[in-house]
Amino acid sequence: MSPGFDFSSFPILLTDRLRLRQITHADAEGMMAVFGDPAVLRFLNNPPVDTPEKAIGMIDWLAGNYQQREGIDWGITLHGNDRLIGMCGAYQWDRSDRHIDIGYHIRPAHWGHGYATEAARAIIGWCFQNLDLHRIQADCTDGNLASERVLLKCGFTVEGIWRESCWEHGRFVSIKQFGLLRHEFTPTT
Ligand SMILES: CC(C)(COP(=O)(O)OP(=O)(O)OC[C@H]1O[C@@H](n2cnc3c(N)ncnc32)[C@H](O)[C@@H]1OP(=O)(O)O)[C@@H](O)C(=O)NCCC(=O)NCCS
Repeated sequence: MSPGFDFSSFPILLTDRLRLRQITHADAEGMMAVFGDPAVLRFLNNPPVDTPEKAIGMIDWLAGNYQQREGIDWGITLHGNDRLIGMCGAYQWDRSDRHIDIGYHIRPAHWGHGYATEAARAIIGWCFQNLDLHRIQADCTDGNLASERVLLKCGFTVEGIWRESCWEHGRFVSIKQFGLLRHEFTPTT
């Protein structure tokens, strides 16, 4: 258990261009804009979040993860505009082996501006500082080149591939595994 973080108040993270904050029911439309878009779902095995009810259900599920101290999901916004442009999170916190997984999703209209990398760096730095971690992990579908590039820009190393381990859009796909050790990360990586 982290000596420094007890989940009593949600950590808001600020970067040069982004404000990462808690996701609330007021973000239902924003969540639909992210997770209802087929381009975002291309490398995910999730059904589209295409109704307000599904969006609220997802937000409640994320809030439950936080309440149970299993993970933290941040809504990604730009300074001066509180509308979600994406979401990122850290989950599957393993306190005994001291690692956690991260993930990120950005609305296609905002792709290619470095926002996922900026958000990922922020949560990586926060997690290493606050969760007493030795390592951070991530994975992506083999062929999700944008996601892979985000991880490499953050300093991750490719550690392997689980061949045809996931059923995605009607076919088996391979999942690429990435890891970042505490001493390998610098905020400017
Ligand atoms: C992955 C994702 C979050 C990246 O968001 P983003 O804000 O555009 O990412 P960034 O701008 O920080 O970095 C993207 C990098 O990938 C590169 N890239 C994008 N598409 C690419 C492609 N088809 N081939 C190779 N590189 C690609 C960009 O050029 C950029 O690298 P660069 O800075 O060296 O030029 C976004 O594409 C997304 O939401 N995808 C759908 C959800 C998803 O797959 N999430 C990850 C699940 S593991």
